[in-house]
Amino acid sequence: MALYLVIAFGAVTVAWVGWNLTLDVLWQPTDRVTMRRILDLAKVKEGEHVLDLGCGDGRFVVAAAREFKARATGIEIDPCRVLWAKAWLLLAGLSQRGARIIWGNMYTADLSNADVVILFLSAKANFRLQERLRHELKEGARIVSYYHPVWGWKPDEIGEGKKGYPLYLYRIKGEQ
Ligand SMILES: C[S@@+](CC[C@H](N)C(=O)[O-])C[C@H]1O[C@@H](n2cnc3c(N)ncnc32)[C@H](O)[C@@H]1O
Repeated sequence: MALYLVIAFGAVTVAWVGWNLTLDVLWQPTDRVTMRRILDLAKVKEGEHVLDLGCGDGRFVVAAAREFKARATGIEIDPCRVLWAKAWLLLAGLSQRGARIIWGNMYTADLSNADVVILFLSAKANFRLQERLRHELKEGARIVSYYHPVWGWKPDEIGEGKKGYPLYLYRIKGEQ
C-alpha cells in the first residue's frame, strides 16, 4: 500500500513539474526589497486595484493589501500555488479587505479595472500580453515589469531591484 502511495505521489510530482515546464514562465519569487521598490515605483495609492499577473505564492497581493491598503488581485495558473496563496491571504486576514487570488490564465484575465499591473514574467510572456495591456488598461494605469522590458515600449521610469536588475515602469496614455 505504502509503495503504491509513493509511486502515485512520484507520478503526480513528475506530471506537475512537466506541466510547469510547458508554461511561458516558471515560478521564481520576487524578494521583499524589490517588491517594495516595485510598489513604490508604481506609486500605489490606497484603494487602487493592483493586479499581479502570474502571482505565484501571492506575495505581491499580500504586500499591496497590507502595506498600501490597495485592492489586490493575483492571477495564477498553477493550482498548488493558488492554494498556497489563498491560505496565506486567509491567515493574514486579507480576504475580507478585497484581496483575492484567482486560479486562471493571465492571457485571458480581465485587465480593464486594474490601476497597477505587476509583471515578473519572461520576454515571451510580456510580448504575448502587450497588445492587451495597451488596449484594455485604462488611461493612467501603470505597469511595472521586473527584469524584462516590454518589447518596443519606452519606459517612463526605470528603477532598480535589490540585485541591480531593472524595474520598468510604463504609464498607459490615451489613444493618440
Ligand atoms: C516568475 S513567477 C512570479 C511570481 C510572483 N509574481 C512574484 O513576483 O513573486 C511567474 C508565475 O507566473 C505563473 N504563470 C505562468 N504562466 C501563467 C499563465 N498563463 N497564467 C497565470 N499564471 C502563470 C507561474 O506559475 C509563476 O508562478
